[in-house]
Amino acid sequence: MITGNVIAVTSGKGGVGKSTVSVNLALALTRLNKRVAIIDLDIYGFSVPKMLNITDRPKTINNKIIPVGSHGLSVMSTGFMVRGNNPIVWRGPMLGRMVEHFFKDVIWGQLDYVILDMPPGTGDVALDLNHLLPNCKEIIVTTPHPTATHVAERAGTMAQNTNHEILGVIENMSYFSPPIENAEKYYLFGKGGGNTLAKTLDTTVLASLPMSIPNENGEVPTIYDETSNLFIHYNDLACKVEELTVTKASVN
Ligand SMILES: Nc1ncnc2c1ncn2[C@@H]1O[C@H](COP(=O)(O)OP(=O)(O)O)[C@@H](O)[C@H]1O
Ligand SMILES: [Mg+2]
Repeated sequence: MITGNVIAVTSGKGGVGKSTVSVNLALALTRLNKRVAIIDLDIYGFSVPKMLNITDRPKTINNKIIPVGSHGLSVMSTGFMVRGNNPIVWRGPMLGRMVEHFFKDVIWGQLDYVILDMPPGTGDVALDLNHLLPNCKEIIVTTPHPTATHVAERAGTMAQNTNHEILGVIENMSYFSPPIENAEKYYLFGKGGGNTLAKTLDTTVLASLPMSIPNENGEVPTIYDETSNLFIHYNDLACKVEELTVTKASVN
């Protein structure tokens, strides 16, 4: 049983920053004093444990799983179920059971937000989600480039077809701006993809996030800390997500 607002961060496409957005949005929500979990649903391509530099494993009590705590988040990932960095070779039906397992057999406690880091594509996991968490909301991530937007549109259309509320679009890798005063913006992947996608899906752009390497020299490879220009962007994003969800918390 999962409580709170469940938000799937999806895209259709790989490499656009779903996991980066999931982790940093989750952390920004904890800065608003929210109780937040992140579930890595990219079963084959799990990345959240590494992104948060987690070496612990979940414990079990009476066949129930206690999620791993990291940076104030409760975390679950199939990465915890495998030894080392071995690839997962399960077929579809096992995958479905794993998703259900994450929702039903984990002691999550009271939560305000559950961020789901989705795999690329519109496959089994997205379908399972519809079945298991019909009240789940979605954030669609794209880059500004039309090919990314085109693929992300399919993920958005799937959300609409399954009656999942779309909270909005995040345009990631929108531009690069050198870290100097009054710096120019360089639109490395073109312009406007986020707006186009938001228009098509009848929603808004929640954030346009510039290029910035997360915590390059730090121990935790994915977190944008307060020294990063993206820290404020993520704080703003968390506030917007709170505004959009605060009156609409739903029981799943
Ligand atoms: N705004 C950004 N600026 C620079 N690099 C980024 C940005 N967002 C994501 N990345 C990097 O892009 C790569 C892919 O991001 P990831 O979150 O793993 O994408 P996905 O989960 O969609 O496959 C990672 O190496 C990540 O550090
Ligand atoms: Mg990912």
